[in-house]
Amino acid sequence: MADLRRMARRRTPPAVFDYTEGAAGDEIASRRAEAAFARVEFVPHVLRDVSKIDTATTVLGRPSALPIAFGPTGFTRMMHHEGEAAVATAAERAGIPYALSTMGSTSIEAIADIAPGLDRWFQLYVWKDRAQSREFISRARESGYSTLVVTIDVTAQGNRLRDVRNGLTIPPSLTPRTLAGMARFPAWWFNKLTTEPLGFASMPRGDSRPLHEVIHSLFDPSVTFDDLDWLRAEWPGSLVVKGVLRPDDARELVRLGVDGLVVSSHGGRQLDRAVAPLDALPDVVEAVDGGAEVMLDGGVRNGADAVAAVALGARAVLVGRPYLYALMAGGEAGVDRLCDLLAADVRRTMALLGVDSVDQLSAESVRLRSR
Ligand SMILES: Cc1cc2nc3c(=O)[nH]c(=O)nc-3n(C[C@H](O)[C@H](O)[C@H](O)COP(=O)(O)O)c2cc1C
Repeated sequence: MADLRRMARRRTPPAVFDYTEGAAGDEIASRRAEAAFARVEFVPHVLRDVSKIDTATTVLGRPSALPIAFGPTGFTRMMHHEGEAAVATAAERAGIPYALSTMGSTSIEAIADIAPGLDRWFQLYVWKDRAQSREFISRARESGYSTLVVTIDVTAQGNRLRDVRNGLTIPPSLTPRTLAGMARFPAWWFNKLTTEPLGFASMPRGDSRPLHEVIHSLFDPSVTFDDLDWLRAEWPGSLVVKGVLRPDDARELVRLGVDGLVVSSHGGRQLDRAVAPLDALPDVVEAVDGGAEVMLDGGVRNGADAVAAVALGARAVLVGRPYLYALMAGGEAGVDRLCDLLAADVRRTMALLGVDSVDQLSAESVRLRSR
């Protein structure tokens, strides 16, 4: 992973790399989310037959080759021109789900055409204009997406200082500074300028304002638990809420009938110093008490992290930055490589824990050190 990140950094203009790696404020939540996994302590069983290891599981009732999914990330064709298509194809090949973002740079329909065998999830931000939300939902339904992931932690745009300093607009526009950057990253710029112009593929075209202005004008901060009723009524498939960190909120969501929730601090990109998802996980799992599937994202960097989260009660983990680094490092082949690394790591960790199937992973073999 660290090597993929280094390659990504070498191959991508700094403003784009910063947008990907960066987080809100002093980036404390982002660092803590990752650091929490260093406190994982494995307590392995020995002398168990682990000659055959099965890393497969089900997520929201559908098969997945690993307890891992690719989470939603906006504007992926900015990171690498192959963008969401490469991520979807690699996920399909690896047999894991992928959530396309509302802010995607490839359309809902295009991903369905490119990866018909993929377990496709669509991530929704609820818009001030509810008709726009309804349109997204019906397009996802008509394109055979299984799962609607409603992200609820963007009540305001996180204070992404790297983007402010870099003057990043989305899509990136040509300014004296970006022109200077061209000389150092000719391949990235060549690909950007010779492929379909970057834009929010599912959204109104021609918007190149700073991201926080787009978000302010479009996203609805008045959304409450009451909105789950109409979302449930509009969406016949699996309904997941992403961005939960408290047991009481989780309990309320279960009462309202969600199928899953994602314990997430948006990769630390929203509320800085938000609790690390791994630390929040055990209490949420206890509160949900099997009433919905609990997933986790934030700071998962390898297969062992995924195994630890599952042992602590997550059904699966989502990853964000890891597949973006892989994409920036090597396009679709890079994401394939990441999938291979994750699969090998999950398998190896299970073998070393003395566990041969995902459903045997339990808190018995993993604990969290206090510091
Ligand atoms: C560049 C980038 C863009 C993101 N865009 C979205 C988005 O459009 N919608 C969303 O729900 N989450 C978005 N996220 C958050 C991810 O879905 C996920 O919560 C986070 O990346 C998990 O942390 P990790 O990057 O440490 O794996 C984004 C994250 C990154 C890094």
